[in-house]
Amino acid sequence: MTDAPVRRTPLPGVLEPAGRTIGAEERAAVLRVLDSAVLCSTFGGEARALEAEMSELYGRDAVTCSSGTAALHLAVAAVGFDPGDEVITTPISDFGTVAPILAQNGVPVFADVDPVTGNLDPAAVEAAITPRTRAIIVVHLFGGAADVVALRSIADRHGLVLIEDCAQAWMGTTAGGELLGTFGDIACFSLQQYKHITAGDGGLAITADAELATRMRLFMDKGWDRSGGRMHLMLGLNYRMTELVAAVARAQLAKVGDVVKRRRESAEQLTAALDGLVGVSLPSLAGHAFWLFPLVVADGNRIWADALTAEGVPASAGYLDRTLYANPVFSGPVYGTSRYPLEGREYPTGLCPNAERLIEHTLVVLPWNEAYTETDVDDIARAIRKVHPDG
Ligand SMILES: Cc1ncc(COP(=O)(O)O)c(C=O)c1O
Repeated sequence: MTDAPVRRTPLPGVLEPAGRTIGAEERAAVLRVLDSAVLCSTFGGEARALEAEMSELYGRDAVTCSSGTAALHLAVAAVGFDPGDEVITTPISDFGTVAPILAQNGVPVFADVDPVTGNLDPAAVEAAITPRTRAIIVVHLFGGAADVVALRSIADRHGLVLIEDCAQAWMGTTAGGELLGTFGDIACFSLQQYKHITAGDGGLAITADAELATRMRLFMDKGWDRSGGRMHLMLGLNYRMTELVAAVARAQLAKVGDVVKRRRESAEQLTAALDGLVGVSLPSLAGHAFWLFPLVVADGNRIWADALTAEGVPASAGYLDRTLYANPVFSGPVYGTSRYPLEGREYPTGLCPNAERLIEHTLVVLPWNEAYTETDVDDIARAIRKVHPDG
């Protein structure tokens, strides 16, 4: 083993032009909106056009909003559960998956995940159902499909709403090629800086259910039924997407298919280059959207991540520092000094052992990017082989 790092020049990343698909189309979009002087989507056409284009892509009604977290808030608000009702979800996700449950005075219930994919284990979800369960929020972690067929059938059997969190899974599909986001009653997407496509921040929620769509639209705009007067039909916030964001998002949405295709091609190259590597599980390629590229090792994920980073291939251990339920909000007050709606609820260490093990021991994630060249992927593969204990 030589001491020289495998890679000396940084790989393209999401915080620089080389690692984003922002170009002439986005620049023209911004100028179009500025020149119109209409920046609020209530009065302009960009957000409505983005909704139409998203509908075209996914075959569902689409509602724009200000972030992926907002999209999930629209979704849980549209479900309309009672305070204290339960929503089952995963302990491995962005906090935006659970914050909306609490914001609606619901109780997040965490079910364990598959030890390799990190996606919700349908058997664990079913075991967590109680008479107060109203919904399931499933996340397609890193862009890999969760078992949405099994979860759809569980939701149907128990009369629950299924929400797909597709923030990391733009254009991902099941192994059989069915689009993720079309199994849930609602699916939510994010346009935050690190996602496949971005407008800085922004979100979309899609549904085939007209009533859910109406409730999400109302919740996004202060519950305001704009068809007449100033009538507020339900509690709502101002989660409107601005016209500038919508215009950029439209240009980005036109590129998402190509972005995912290129990410898949490089992921295939990496997988082929790592063929035969012992003791490392690679993601299954079929349908994966490759937001990140996860590796599951036997143990020592922090050692792996540090060693890869030292080779010039940035990697992080565990994706999160801790499970969602290990965050202080789940053990302390939620509103003011009150623990409502979590009184009497405990989220102890050991609640979801597979998730804890992935974060603490076995999961290593590599940033992934549509701009990676064959040489970039080759360097990543060489770094992985070099830091592998048998390498
Ligand atoms: C799985 C998942 N859910 C929800 C969110 C929240 O999205 P946003 O940051 O746009 O609010 C993110 C990303 O940040 C995410 O990765």
